[in-house]
Amino acid sequence: MNPRAELRVLFNRREIEAAVRRLASEISQDYRNKNPVLLGILRGSFVFLADLIRHLDFPLEVDFIELSSYGSSTQTSGKIKVVKKLETPVRDHDVLIVEDIVDTGLTTAFLIKYLKRQKPASVRLCALTDKPSRREVPVKIDYIGFTVPNKFLVGYGLDANQKFRNLPDICYFEGEA
Ligand code: IMP
Repeated sequence: MNPRAELRVLFNRREIEAAVRRLASEISQDYRNKNPVLLGILRGSFVFLADLIRHLDFPLEVDFIELSSYGSSTQTSGKIKVVKKLETPVRDHDVLIVEDIVDTGLTTAFLIKYLKRQKPASVRLCALTDKPSRREVPVKIDYIGFTVPNKFLVGYGLDANQKFRNLPDICYFEGEA
């Protein structure tokens, strides 16, 4: 990372709050009577998921799964492995995946396939941010917070080398290649 790159705000906390409320209202319409399992992908989704569920006033369950891609941190091989399994049996349940960002799509495409093998009643995807310019595999995103440009984002759960997750705004580095 360029040490002289400056942190700029892409979406501030008020814009994020409005997006989370809008998503919660869309999700409420579809899931109110379904007792869904909201499945956060660790670690980036935890801030978003924590805010989202506080706008959902119907019964639901929360679980987490941790995935990682094989290979070095800079070169993704496209092969994903499960680092931490979900604990909740999802057979015949409606599952809503909650993700911070869909970038290449490899992680969510893998997870949707992985979950479908467990025979849930349905699987849908909610992503706070969508970076379509980077997509390598097609992924259907059912609920999208923001469509974002091809910049590396940090804050509101998103990290760069495990740092910056605690920023309340979604930011990027100006001057970064
Ligand atoms: P994928 O490329 O769609 O498989 O995204 C995999 C993961 O890469 C996401 O869940 C994020 O954790 C991470 N990621 C992708 N783009 C960014 C970004 O701009 N900032 C921080 N993390 C990112």
